[in-house]
This record gives sequence, structure tokens and C-alpha cells, in this order.
Amino acid sequence: KKGKVCVLGSFNLDIVAGMSRFPQPGESLIAHNSMMGAGGKGANQAVAALRAGARVHYIGKVGRDDFGTFARRHLDSAGFDAVTLFSTADFPTGNALIYVAGVDAENMIAVDPGANLTFTQDEIESCRPAIAAADILLTQLENNLPAIEKVIDIATEAGTYIILNPAPFQPVSDALLAKVDLLTPNATECTLLTGITVKNVSSAQQAAEVLHGKGINALIITLGTQGALLSVAGQTQLVAAFAAVPKDTTGAGDAFNGALAAQLASGVALVDAASFASAYASVCVERAGAASSMPTYEEALARQSTAIKQIVQ
Ligand code: RIB
Ligand code: NA
Repeated sequence: KKGKVCVLGSFNLDIVAGMSRFPQPGESLIAHNSMMGAGGKGANQAVAALRAGARVHYIGKVGRDDFGTFARRHLDSAGFDAVTLFSTADFPTGNALIYVAGVDAENMIAVDPGANLTFTQDEIESCRPAIAAADILLTQLENNLPAIEKVIDIATEAGTYIILNPAPFQPVSDALLAKVDLLTPNATECTLLTGITVKNVSSAQQAAEVLHGKGINALIITLGTQGALLSVAGQTQLVAAFAAVPKDTTGAGDAFNGALAAQLASGVALVDAASFASAYASVCVERAGAASSMPTYEEALARQSTAIKQIVQ
């Protein structure tokens, strides 16, 4: 069954430069390749959920500028069930300048959220039917907090399951966190949320206890190559990461969250959904760009079955 996912989140136009190393302040360094593409955590997660098999309604906001036109074209041709794209003349479309370098293909990102921070309460209210019609609401922290609070309140009232990916980190109240059904921080966000330096499974377990204490029932702490720690009502389980040859890690977290939402919306159990999402993210890091690097359901499934074969051999 195809589940229905509603994503409220950012759209950014990404300009990505692949470098042999990161430049120093004051230095002009030649990039070996560059690309312009659709990004923003919200739009990336929406594309991931779609390609991972869900029916998706994406809600975003852009400026009335060239990047906004680009956004509309990208979103209209992506294959979503529906797109609600608000616009403002007062702020630019969100954009991100991204350097990718090093053997691990790590990135450095400067984000100007622009229009992403300008959702009004009325705009969010007008999305109530879309939120109520979805199995899952997936949202992040790359928009203005009052908008995020309102969309979470609407989903709570409608009984729609809420996944909050707290990225990029911004301080949120414990009251907001307690309304979320599933929180999916990475190590950095988990550190900022709890004050515990999360760098491995045992520190993630300690942080999970702190988050449960704040009223969060279920969480998945993503730990990159160390896997993902699931913690539901204090019961923890580690989901293994899948081996990958990284080319561009941009969007890896978004791949995980989008695929996770698609799986949960179609009724898959949490650990199985997390394992699929981790296979899905491992394929994403092998490709350039953000939204453009999201694999299909079949590609992630193939990654999962090859990994299983390797264990059996
Ligand atoms: O998570 C990756 C995304 O973060 C990029 O697409 C960039 O736009 C930033 O929002
Ligand atoms: Na990528």
C-alpha cells in the first residue's frame, strides 16, 4: 500500500562545488565540478518520500524571483500528488552554497533561508485538510518556529502521525517535542537538544534517556556509519548502516527521513522502516547533489539485499 505523506518544509536552490579540499579564508580555489539543483531539507525529504514509494503533498514557500521560478518548475515536474507553494515578494527564495570535499565527501553549507522563514499562521491554517488527509506529517526546523508549532498542532488535532527531523537545530520547547510521535536527530542535533556529547552508541543511549524524560516516546538517532539508534519508550535497538562509497553526503539525512516516512506511512514496522531508510541513505551519498541524489525504492531494496547476501556468504 502506498502511504500518504505530507511534508511541510524548506525549499532551497543549492549551488554545489566539488573541491579537492575546503578553501581557506581569503583563498580562491578551483572547484573540479559544480552544479545547481533543488535542495532544502523539506523539498529533499519530500522527493525522498516520493521516490521511496509514498504519495506526497509538499508544502513550501519561495520568493518571487528567478530561484522561485526554478522551484516551481522542479516541484511541478517531480511527480507529487499535490504541491502547495506560497510566495512572498519581500524575501528571496532560500538558497544554499555548498562545498563538498575530502575522501568522506563531507560538506560545508551556508544557508540563507529567506522565504522559508516567512510562513504566516493563515497559510499554515489553509493546509489543515492536507495535513488531516495524510498518514504522516514530516517536518524539520528549517522554517519559522511559529509555523512549525502550528503545523504540529494541526496534525495533533487531526490525529496525523508526526515525524520531526530537528534539522538544522534551533531551540524548541519541551512542550513541542512532547507532541511529536517520532523525533529523528543526528548526533549534532542530539547533542544540542540534550547537552550530552553524542559521538557513539553509548552516548546516544544516554541522550535518548534525556529525550524520553522530555516526553518523547519514540526516537531514532542517526549516527552516520555507526548506524541508527532506535529508542522507543526506553527500549533501544541499533540498526546497522550500509557500506557506501561516498561522493556527496549532502541530503543523506533527508534521504533517511523521507524514506522512513514513506515506509511508516505504508504500514512497515519501525525497525524495518529504519533499516530500509538507512539502505536508502547509503545509495544517496554515492550521488551528487541533494534532491537529485534520491534513489528509487528498488535501488534501496537492491542495496539491502546485496548487504544481506554479503553477511550470508
Ligand atoms: O540537508 C541538505 C540541505 O541542507 C541542502 O539541500 C541545503 O539546501 C540545506 O538546506
Ligand atoms: Na547526495
